[in-house]
Amino acid sequence: MHKIPVGVLGASGYAGRELCALIQRHDGLTLAYATANSQRGETAELPRGGHVTFDAADDVQLGSAALVFSALPHGASAEWVSRARAAGARVVDLSADLRIGNGASEGIPYGLTELRRERIRGAECVANPGCYPTSALIALAPLFEQGLIAPGATVHISAASGVSGAGLSPRLDLLFGEVTENYRAYGTGNAHRHLNEMRALATEYGADVDLLFTPHLLPIARGILSTITVPLGRPLEDLMAPWRERYAGEPFIELADALPELRHVAQRNVVRIAVRGVAGVRTPTIQVFSAIDNLMKGAAGQALQNANLMLGLAEQTGLPA
Ligand SMILES: NC(=O)c1ccc[n+]([C@@H]2O[C@H](COP(=O)([O-])OP(=O)(O)OC[C@H]3O[C@@H](n4cnc5c(N)ncnc54)[C@H](OP(=O)(O)O)[C@@H]3O)[C@@H](O)[C@H]2O)c1
Repeated sequence: MHKIPVGVLGASGYAGRELCALIQRHDGLTLAYATANSQRGETAELPRGGHVTFDAADDVQLGSAALVFSALPHGASAEWVSRARAAGARVVDLSADLRIGNGASEGIPYGLTELRRERIRGAECVANPGCYPTSALIALAPLFEQGLIAPGATVHISAASGVSGAGLSPRLDLLFGEVTENYRAYGTGNAHRHLNEMRALATEYGADVDLLFTPHLLPIARGILSTITVPLGRPLEDLMAPWRERYAGEPFIELADALPELRHVAQRNVVRIAVRGVAGVRTPTIQVFSAIDNLMKGAAGQALQNANLMLGLAEQTGLPA
């Protein structure tokens, strides 16, 4: 079978390595190049086997790939996206540079696949969502779409992530001794950069809500669990109905009776969701619990899901459900 050549920029990072590993096992894709910055010239083992050698981005023919994944840091990515597009390649950008709410997204679909599938299919460029926003927005979208949230309400998103969410760059506060056997909030004050895209999507749905987002750091490598507290305009008779109706037949959305746990989603390209009612408050309120693997559905897996659509391949190809 003819395989479509794809390239990965920033392949030596956490998201980039996951992408290379997924591409190596993909029936319809072949890795044309994988680039790195400080690790250029090095060969690395990939998750789940195989290895890859990193080239300098300046040394590769960007246009030798039909589609380029940019897993570069914010700020560095946009310029490489432009270069890849000028060379004739489609692009999935994993950075925040082109996402809604970040000022540079006109005409570029926001790659929350289950919510934007028809815009992503055949697109030249897609802005892959952030990891926290993937967990929160897939959980909230049915409520936005069906106008179920109390007008003017504050929706509290309390979420905890493993340390790979911060990338590979060395940082004192992410040393093993600072993280292990510990748990703490960060990015407090409702100013985390992921709020931009979460607010922008809520606005697209016309939702009259405030989002109050508090991230926490878990002493594990990967996974995000979000606990989202939502005041409703009226009580729900069947708590799971909005999600069952919205996500019927979706292969990567798992609706669960039991509360989602990170071990349920590790290494998988899924969002696992459960809903509970809340007692002892005057406004009818629910809590939505959402778990993802930040490197899979939160980054590389969703990027590949979008790339499959952009290239006319079956959406599930090469993805661990
Ligand atoms: N980690 C996650 O859970 C996650 C989730 C969703 C989205 N994202 C986004 O995906 C992108 C990659 O994230 P990551 O966690 O994989 O980051 P990372 O581990 O820090 O990797 C960054 C990659 O970019 C390269 N790089 C760094 N600075 C560069 C520069 N100035 N110019 C060119 N290349 C440079 C690095 O090369 P060297 O290592 O060789 O220096 C590495 O390959 C980021 O935009 C991030 O926000 C990450």
